[in-house]
Amino acid sequence: MANYIEKVMESNTLPCHIKNLVSGEMYHGIEVSNLAVMIAEELGESKRFCDDLSVAGVLHDIGKLKINEYIFSEEDTLVIEHMKYVRQHSLYSYEILKNAGYSKNILEAVYYHHENYNGTGYPDCLKGKAIPWMARILRTCDVFAALTSDRSYRKAFDVDSAVQIMIDEVADYDMTVFLAFQRILHNGKFKGTDSIRNNINELQMEQLALFEKVI
Ligand SMILES: [Fe+2]
Ligand SMILES: [Fe+2]
Repeated sequence: MANYIEKVMESNTLPCHIKNLVSGEMYHGIEVSNLAVMIAEELGESKRFCDDLSVAGVLHDIGKLKINEYIFSEEDTLVIEHMKYVRQHSLYSYEILKNAGYSKNILEAVYYHHENYNGTGYPDCLKGKAIPWMARILRTCDVFAALTSDRSYRKAFDVDSAVQIMIDEVADYDMTVFLAFQRILHNGKFKGTDSIRNNINELQMEQLALFEKVI
């Protein structure tokens, strides 16, 4: 089957900074997806649930591709993450997926993936169990994946430092999810960030086709 990450990187029509943005978001989606499924399996969720969560993980930030004009300057350099626009990306992700026929579970997980358990997240400042279950799983995975990845303004944190940062703000996370996440890190199932970033299954690869349609 087509490797959509290679396709994007080999494109002759896309500018370099867009290729990097898109492939970076693809890898981030895969990382969140793989970790989320590991947590869901640890919590005994069904295959159907894990497949939906896997799809939501791959696609949760696809709306960021709609705001790249606010993220990049004309010189192709990262200028600033304008919060006002960046915060719209979960809505944009939701709209892209809604128009592509994805299920309600997946749409809700994507729309609410930036809600914090203590009510400090966005877009709706939902609190506790009012946040859809899948979105609560994605939240923990999303923060860990972001902290353990290089950014233009900082290098990636190692796993232990990332976990310590998350523990300092543990009220942001559903404790059931966070404890399952901790178990995975210590029971040998987690083989490092490279492994969750680069292991791509067929279901996940199929989802990456949607990135191509959005850019
Ligand atoms: Fe996001
Ligand atoms: Fe994300």
